[in-house]
Amino acid sequence: MLFRSGAIESIKDQPQGRIQYAAPYLKINSQNNDNEQLESSLKQLMPWRKGPYQIGDLQLDSEWRGDMKWDRVIPHIKPLKEKTVLDVGSGNGYFTYLMALSGAEIVLGIEPFLLFNYQFQAIRSLISNPPHAFVLPLKLEQMPNEAVFDTVFSMGVLYHQKDHMLHLQQLKNVMTIDGELILETLVIDGIHGEQIIPEDRYARMRNVWCLPSTDTLNTWLEQTGFKNIKLVDVTKTTPEEQRATHWIGDNTQSLQDFLDPNNDNLTIEGLPAPKRAIFVCQK
Ligand SMILES: C[S@@+](CC[C@H](N)C(=O)[O-])C[C@H]1O[C@@H](n2cnc3c(N)ncnc32)[C@H](O)[C@@H]1O
Repeated sequence: MLFRSGAIESIKDQPQGRIQYAAPYLKINSQNNDNEQLESSLKQLMPWRKGPYQIGDLQLDSEWRGDMKWDRVIPHIKPLKEKTVLDVGSGNGYFTYLMALSGAEIVLGIEPFLLFNYQFQAIRSLISNPPHAFVLPLKLEQMPNEAVFDTVFSMGVLYHQKDHMLHLQQLKNVMTIDGELILETLVIDGIHGEQIIPEDRYARMRNVWCLPSTDTLNTWLEQTGFKNIKLVDVTKTTPEEQRATHWIGDNTQSLQDFLDPNNDNLTIEGLPAPKRAIFVCQK
């Protein structure tokens, strides 16, 4: 961990700038950065999965083009202006910042993986006058069961849960009455059945526990007691959205390496290739 806090200390010596969204980048308009030093310190915090960010003229091209997901989400949700927002599984806070920049009163990201908390700190230390966006090293299970959040995002998290119904219930517990849930997760086409529970890996990921069809997921949301359930988007993940860059570290594999080389509708394990659905519903 020492080298990580060393990296953050060195990043703190860099000039700060204002943050804005200049798609695809979350951009910090700082000037006169020592780019060589900055890049080297940020690279000590690899892999950078979520982003992309731009600091001055240094482009931090993360594995994921988060802007593409944001474009699919934003037309379908209630305005975030003055809302109290929870971003479950926030990673390094790319979306947490986007939510705050959309006018939320406060956004809390929760992310149990410590490296991503360090990445959040690194980016935050480069921002002058940062928006009300915070990331804490917590799991949803560790949040008090208090109904305080007007909008709750769970994006890319459900399939990592051994107990998907418990996750949905816990999301509901922290929402205000009439609060809005944005649930984004991996799905399969109905023709493959109700759900797939991968026996081993899925697209080389170890910890994937459920891949429901959209109908099945709709039923799970109903069973949890959500109302006004709307399926607003289903999109196959493309190598444009998830790609290998020099910011992901020594293991340079990305989506293209996780698909069947002869059939990009299948993963390397022979399961349906990644496709993600977005549901929006109310408590
Ligand atoms: C695939 S990433 C998604 C990141 C981001 N939300 C996105 O949509 O790109 C899932 C993240 O959720 C976190 N996570 C997994 N289980 C969680 C839980 N029970 N509570 C909070 N975060 C969790 C993981 O550590 C991981 O960083």
